Amino acid sequence: MRSPAIHPSILNCDIAHLADELARVSSADGVHVDVMDNHFVPNLSWGMPVVEAVLATTSLPVDAHLMIEDPDRWAPAYAESGCDVVTVHAEAAAAPVRLAHELHRLGARAGLALRPATSVEAVADVVQDFDLLLVMTVEPGFGGQRFLEPMLAKIERARRLVGSAGIRLQVDGGITPQTIERAAEAGAEVFVAGSAVYRAQDAQAAISELRSLAGR
Ligand code: DX5
Ligand code: ZN
Repeated sequence: MRSPAIHPSILNCDIAHLADELARVSSADGVHVDVMDNHFVPNLSWGMPVVEAVLATTSLPVDAHLMIEDPDRWAPAYAESGCDVVTVHAEAAAAPVRLAHELHRLGARAGLALRPATSVEAVADVVQDFDLLLVMTVEPGFGGQRFLEPMLAKIERARRLVGSAGIRLQVDGGITPQTIERAAEAGAEVFVAGSAVYRAQDAQAAISELRSLAGR
């Protein structure tokens, strides 16, 4: 397994001071940007203009998590804009394999996300075409929720599925100093953390604490 990576989610950062908020997490391994459309999830965040602003402001890899309907139509633009990883939900993608190939053609890596109720087995036949599998550890839609403990067994199943095939295993939701060790033991290697980083006085210290608890 590769070394753990910490990707702060800017969902609940101070968006009026985006450049400062990105500078606060400059020691992270990537920046996680949550795109929500008020249909796939009951919340609306932002789309391409904000993602482009993030890309123009940080030198970190940008990981776009698309919680939207019809990602087959909308995800390619995020790949074209220069995101490092574009993650779509398995429940929303009509043709995930074709979409993964399209994202690759446009120069991005492709991620496949699972809501808590979607089993790992449901994507066993398509995940090989992706670079990253995202196991949601809360119901997608909002930051600051509690980590769902039953997801630990699901992370273990996801780890067995991706094996050492070069597919990275990401977790998102409720990742804190209290939960990250168990998520890492279960097999996760890329950790999205929103409130645990942005609510800390010292975000860089929070990132290094999470990273060391995850085993690096
Ligand atoms: C929730 C988003 C998360 C969220 C995580 O749907 O996908 O990325 O920002 O926030 P925390 O770390 O506070 O659970
Ligand atoms: Zn997310």
